Amino acid sequence: SRAFRSDARSTGRKPPPSFAFDIDGVLLHVSKPIPGASDTLRFLQASGIPFILLTNGGGKPEAERVRDLSERLGVPLSTDNFIQSHTPFQELLKGPGSLRDKTVLVTGSDYEKCRAIFEGYGFRTVLTPADIYAADPTIFPFQPPPQTTLSHARPLPAPLYHPSSTLPLTSHLKIDAVFTLNDPRDWALDLQLLTDLLLSHGGYLGTYSQHNGPASTTTTSSTSGVAAKRCLGWQRDGQPPLYFSNADLLWSALHPLPRLGQGAFQAALAGVWARITGGQAELERKCIGKPYAETYRFAEGVLARAAEGEGRKLGRVYMVGDNPESDIAGANGFVSEWGAEWVSVLVRTGVWKEGRGGKLEGVFEPREVVDDVKAAVEWAVEREV
Ligand code: G3P
Ligand code: MG
Repeated sequence: SRAFRSDARSTGRKPPPSFAFDIDGVLLHVSKPIPGASDTLRFLQASGIPFILLTNGGGKPEAERVRDLSERLGVPLSTDNFIQSHTPFQELLKGPGSLRDKTVLVTGSDYEKCRAIFEGYGFRTVLTPADIYAADPTIFPFQPPPQTTLSHARPLPAPLYHPSSTLPLTSHLKIDAVFTLNDPRDWALDLQLLTDLLLSHGGYLGTYSQHNGPASTTTTSSTSGVAAKRCLGWQRDGQPPLYFSNADLLWSALHPLPRLGQGAFQAALAGVWARITGGQAELERKCIGKPYAETYRFAEGVLARAAEGEGRKLGRVYMVGDNPESDIAGANGFVSEWGAEWVSVLVRTGVWKEGRGGKLEGVFEPREVVDDVKAAVEWAVEREV
C-alpha cells in the first residue's frame, strides 16, 4: 500500500489505478457486508487509491443511501464518489433542453422517496402515480395499490384531463417525461399509467393520439376532392419520453435464487406495448445505468475530475462486478473519453455463478474472474505494481 501512496501523490509517473465497485453482490449481500469488503475499502482509502461505488440500485436520495452504506460497511463514504442508477438523470437539468421546469412523473419502489430524489436534484414539478390516482381513482379499476392508500398524494398542478371537460386541452395536466427510478412495487398501476401516457396526445392523460398506428399516408377521395391523411405512427405525437435507470432483469437478494429487478418491469411494459401495437412498434425508451455508456461516462467523469483536482491523470479503471450483463458488458464496451483503460473483473459472490448467470463470452467475458472483491483488488494491485 505504501508503494501506491507515493505513486498516487507524485507527478509525472504512471497514474494510479482507480476502482468502480458494484454494490449488490460485490460489497453487500442484501444488507450485510460480503467478507473482505470493508477491509478492502479501508485498504484503498489508506493507500490513496481512488474508488467510486457504481450501483444499479436506487430509490433513496444519495445522501441517505451513503449514510446507510457507511454504517453497514463501517467505512466512511461520501456522495462525491457514489453513483446510483438514477444519479446521472441530473444531467437532464443542464443546458437548453433542461427538464427543470417541466412536469415529470416518477415511479419506483417508494413513490415519496422517488419524488424526494428528483426534487433534491432540482426538478421543480415532480408527480407520482399516487397523485394521479388520487385525482381520478377510475384510472385504476382495482383495489387501490398500497402506496396510494397511504395518501401521500399531492394536488396536481393543473386539472387532470377528462374527455367531457370543456376546458381547452392546454390548460390541463401535461406530463413531459416519465422516469422509473428503481424497482417499481405497484406494477399494475404503473403499467396502466405509463401505457396511458404512451398512447396519449402530447402527454395529456385521458387523450388518445390520432396518430397511434403504423406510420402511413392514406388518400381518400370524395365529391369534394382528394384528401391525404398522414398517420405519424406510435409515440410520434409528443408523448413524454420514457426513461429507465436500470435494465437488470435479475439481481442478487436474500432469496437463494436471483430476483426480478427493474429490467423485468421494463420487459413487462414492452410486452404490453407489443400487444397493444400488434407488434408494429418497438417501445421507444431511454435506459441508463450499467451497462449503458451514459452511466460509464458519468462515472468516468467523476473519477477524472477528482484526478484532475489532485493534479494527476486518470489511470486504469477496474470495474468490479457480479453481473456479466451489466457490470462486465458495460466496462468492456465503454469507450473512454479520458483515455483510460477500463478493465472488467467478475466476482463469484453475486448473481453470476459457474453454470448459472450466463455464458462469459464476447462482451460478457471479464478480463478476470475472482472469488470476491478482496481478491479482485489484490489481483488488480498486483498487475499495477
Ligand atoms: O436493484 C439493484 C440491482 O439491480 C443491482 O445493484 O449494486 O448490483 O448494481 P448493483
Ligand atoms: Mg451487483
